[in-house]
Amino acid sequence: MNFKIFRGDDNTPSPTNEQFLGQFIPLHYHFQMLQDADRMKSFKSAIEATVTPGMNVVELGCGTGVLSSFAARCGAKVQSIERNPELVSASRKFIDSNGLNDSIEVIHEDATCYIPTRPIDVVICEMLHVGMLREKQLQVIAAFKENYLNAFGPPLPRFIPEASLLTIQLIQQNFDFEGYIAPIPIFQAPSAITAGTYELSSPFRYGEILYSDDYPQQFAFDRKIRAEREGTFNAIRLLTHNILSIDDHMGTFVSWANQFLVLPVENPVAVSTNEMVPIKFAYRSGDELDAFTKGLSASEPMTRRVRKAA
Ligand SMILES: C[S@@+](CC[C@H](N)C(=O)[O-])C[C@H]1O[C@@H](n2cnc3c(N)ncnc32)[C@H](O)[C@@H]1O
Repeated sequence: MNFKIFRGDDNTPSPTNEQFLGQFIPLHYHFQMLQDADRMKSFKSAIEATVTPGMNVVELGCGTGVLSSFAARCGAKVQSIERNPELVSASRKFIDSNGLNDSIEVIHEDATCYIPTRPIDVVICEMLHVGMLREKQLQVIAAFKENYLNAFGPPLPRFIPEASLLTIQLIQQNFDFEGYIAPIPIFQAPSAITAGTYELSSPFRYGEILYSDDYPQQFAFDRKIRAEREGTFNAIRLLTHNILSIDDHMGTFVSWANQFLVLPVENPVAVSTNEMVPIKFAYRSGDELDAFTKGLSASEPMTRRVRKAA
């Protein structure tokens, strides 16, 4: 099944999924995911805290099958759904060579169409991209819930992740690359201190996803964010934190943050401490990065100030 990709309102025909990184991730990109120790350890801990022997687990978008392997090694029977034929073959091969054939079945299917054949205890889905851009985590889980409730009724299985929190931050970003100024999107390791980034505001929440509840699949933001220090506001930073699992008995949780994403704004502007900076944007989950920046508009006063300065 092809997804419709929202391309703004310019009436250009939508390219197919295959043309978009994120919708279709080739095998060699999975190396980076397997190498991301923070991602791997966090998902392993969350799965080990949630999955117990005898459980039925589904993984939507299994890629190389690594997260399914964590569940299988906890004693679960796993159905692993994958749409990309290259990854279906690769995961089947890796599962076999890891001796997990008896516990994991890889199904070549679009996860939005998949209907389980038995009640499920836990669903794992890692199509997480900062800001819920590029990948279709929200659409895939929403479709799964609808299909599952039609087939089995409530209760829904538990989801890994359980929740995601979407925030934005006003920043001043250094776009100087050896004397060459190039304001381009920058992915950053999710850490508080990043060279070249000067935080002008605290992260401001604009979206909250609780996977077991109804949740939004598009985000519209139109309000003012307070600059906490003065500087040149020339970029927005998107931060997405995911709660992978919550242990009610122990009162603990496992979390994991996506890479932060810095997106330059069209018209940089000087801001002063305590200035309220109006920010407006709208996009749909799964949109390409430019859908966010296309929708991003500077405030009236800022536009006026930029014109005055020009
Ligand atoms: C970010 S990768 C994660 C892979 C694996 N779960 C892991 O953690 O290493 C997302 C995977 O979901 C697959 N995928 C994306 N949309 C899908 C869909 N609608 N149905 C099935 N698989 C999908 C992609 O092909 C890709 O392999």
